[in-house]
Amino acid sequence: MNESQRKWWKEAVVYQIYPRSFKDSNGDGIGDLRGIIEKLDYIKSLGVDVVWLNPIFASPNDDNGYDISDYRAIMDEFGTIADFDELLAGMHERGIKLVLDLVVNHSSDEHRWFQEARKSRDNPYRDYYHWWAAEDGTPPKRWSFFDEEANAWRYDAPTDSYYLHYFSVKQPDLNWENPKLREEVYEIVKFWFDKGIDGFRMDVITFISKDLPFKDLPAKYNGNFVQYYAEGPRRHEYLQEMNREVLSKYDIMTVAEGPGTTVENVLDYVSEDRHELNMSYHFDISNLGHKDLAKKLMSPEGWDFLEFKEIFRKWDACFAEKGWGTVYLGNHDFPRMVSRWGNDSEEFREISSKMLTTFLLTMRGTVYYYFGDELGMTNIRFDKIEDYRDIMTINLHKLIASEGGDLDEFMESQKLIGRDNGRTPFQWNDSENAGFTSGAPWLKVNPNYQTVNVAAEEKNENSPLNYFRKMIRFRRENPVLIYGKSEFFDLQNKRVFAYTRELDDKKFLILLNFTDRAATANVGFDLAEARYLFGNYDNFDGALKPYQAAILEL
Ligand code: GLC
Ligand code: CA
Repeated sequence: MNESQRKWWKEAVVYQIYPRSFKDSNGDGIGDLRGIIEKLDYIKSLGVDVVWLNPIFASPNDDNGYDISDYRAIMDEFGTIADFDELLAGMHERGIKLVLDLVVNHSSDEHRWFQEARKSRDNPYRDYYHWWAAEDGTPPKRWSFFDEEANAWRYDAPTDSYYLHYFSVKQPDLNWENPKLREEVYEIVKFWFDKGIDGFRMDVITFISKDLPFKDLPAKYNGNFVQYYAEGPRRHEYLQEMNREVLSKYDIMTVAEGPGTTVENVLDYVSEDRHELNMSYHFDISNLGHKDLAKKLMSPEGWDFLEFKEIFRKWDACFAEKGWGTVYLGNHDFPRMVSRWGNDSEEFREISSKMLTTFLLTMRGTVYYYFGDELGMTNIRFDKIEDYRDIMTINLHKLIASEGGDLDEFMESQKLIGRDNGRTPFQWNDSENAGFTSGAPWLKVNPNYQTVNVAAEEKNENSPLNYFRKMIRFRRENPVLIYGKSEFFDLQNKRVFAYTRELDDKKFLILLNFTDRAATANVGFDLAEARYLFGNYDNFDGALKPYQAAILEL
């Protein structure tokens, strides 16, 4: 392996924390920075290298912090800048790096820039946002992900104009055409790097360049707004400028949230010679099994395992020579890993969540592991719309209701993929509210906290939690799992995911049974000769038991 290609962020396991749901330190029912400080030793005990925090900046919380009203201040509910400094120091003392969330496709409508911009058409901040003058008629259709009417233009009376918001009405899109706005963004990035943070995850960064002047959606997009939003003409110019002005001056990592990225275009963002970003994560996996992506409706047949494998194969191949990939199976926008990709029944929850952990930590790419998945936390599956807090669920429900759509179908789909499934409070122990808060939690705690919790899993050597720790250690001790090239086998096998990783003279075979029945794989190696190294059962006898994960040395 070429030493110059080794990078700390390629070797990292990133542990993602949704701060609102991790640990509440003051009884207001909302997780906060002091809560994370209390639990730093827990985080350290996992063996992860990097923590990514969802947005912690000042926000009216229309979209839980993804609507920022001051990029240099901490959200009131989360604490103060002094708490932040203590948190960062506490992480660095423990050898953990910290990555924050950069949300600069849009700001909050309560940001000072927008407050100014909406005052008059000649306000100096007017061009920080995108406007459509009402005298020019109704603006062309733009889809909004979080609008009750799915309309990304909102009329604003003071200036008789519409403003653009791809997300909620309280998330107006920033205008990157304006060099002053770009300069402000780079200053914000510098501010946090100078404080010592180790990187940024960049929220919907593929959407920052808009197709001006706004015309009708070109026919070739066939109604696919995500694709269209992700192909703005100046996006690479902006990212290269940001890289030149600020990113290249620090030893940090950057990862794009990359809706609309494809294997054909992703290297334009992450190939080293492009000088843009380090990594990107795509949506091909999370989009699997939908019958209607925009309305978040799932198809009754579920997701297809062969497609799942093909997606991982093709993304792996894409980074074989250039760039670098990411692997994840859950985050704050998706349901719980074990409910979506494994089996969260009592019988198989633990074993299948360990299998998925093995999968994540043996694929090539930086691993993004979502907090709570190490416990095998599961979807809560709310029956009532009133239980949801997520603006996306609530406003899609309104949209579908206003169109006379099938709300039962929508609610069933939300049980599977609704974002609040992955946002329920972290389960620390079996005391009231899972030890998350002494008050009333902002979102209901999953009733299974009595058995699924850190305290119980600490005591059990075979728990998903302890398996995660061991698996991280095993990965660290075996660079073949980090840098080794991959090869996939038996791709038509409907039960087993089989692949090898190879580096220098080491070759590992990974066999994963994604089903609740015994299975075998046709890999063309003499398995009797292979040495069993690691897995979620005590041994491997040639056939895989339900949800068995086995790592063998060839
Ligand atoms: C990203 C975030 C999501 C947020 C949206 C708008 O997709 O991950 O949580 O709602 O952007 O900022
Ligand atoms: Ca709190």
